[in-house]
Amino acid sequence: NPVLRLTDIARTAEIAHAHGARLVVDNTFASPAVQRPLELGADMSVHSTTKYLNGHSDSVGGIVVAVRDDDIEWLRFVQNAAGAILGPFDSWLVLRGTKTLAVRMAQHNVNGMAVAQFLAEHPKVKQVIYPGLPSHPQHALARTQMRGFGGMLSFDVGTFEAARRVCNRVKLMALAESLGGVETLISHPATMTHASVPAERRLEIGLTDSLVRISVGIEDPADLIADLTQALG
Ligand SMILES: Cc1ncc(COP(=O)(O)O)c(C=O)c1O
Repeated sequence: NPVLRLTDIARTAEIAHAHGARLVVDNTFASPAVQRPLELGADMSVHSTTKYLNGHSDSVGGIVVAVRDDDIEWLRFVQNAAGAILGPFDSWLVLRGTKTLAVRMAQHNVNGMAVAQFLAEHPKVKQVIYPGLPSHPQHALARTQMRGFGGMLSFDVGTFEAARRVCNRVKLMALAESLGGVETLISHPATMTHASVPAERRLEIGLTDSLVRISVGIEDPADLIADLTQALG
């Protein structure tokens, strides 16, 4: 996920359906305010509610959104048989978070773009990966299937040492895994979220040791840019 490669959902749904398969989309990075897989032809959409749906980094959970009766019946059976359901308090937190999803995502979109544009101009940054930038190889696809480009971005600072330095020097952003909360989180995927992926595989997918990921929150974007300026400086 840190390399932010997109899938053409409508086309993939066509191919899946032509072969009698279902298309299930993990829509966690976008949230329903930014991308609606079911409207694009997917059969199910799954979300880690831990992320944007709850939005405040204080609950862990997940949902499956299905439209076909047989899928819903099967999911109900699994839910009942396995018993892994969200407790009442977590359910309440997610429902409360969902009420502000649209306004939070609007700000994540604005801040994601502002931080991406700032980084793209920075002399110490070799590459920025953000679907909202024209330099993203699937920018045209992002424009057709997303409404805004979300708050997730990655950037390459050339060396592992430089990546470590940025992650350790930020003051406003927290160095942490997870994503999708109102507060900005920075992480080093190669040693954190993706440390268990073999090094050769990481390189194959473009996940270098010099890559830094940011889950851009909803703070004042000027504060985020000031923090990155001092951390990169
Ligand atoms: C795209 C995506 N889907 C699902 C998950 C799983 O989330 P959880 O840990 O809440 O099950 C993650 C976690 O980072 C994620 O990034």
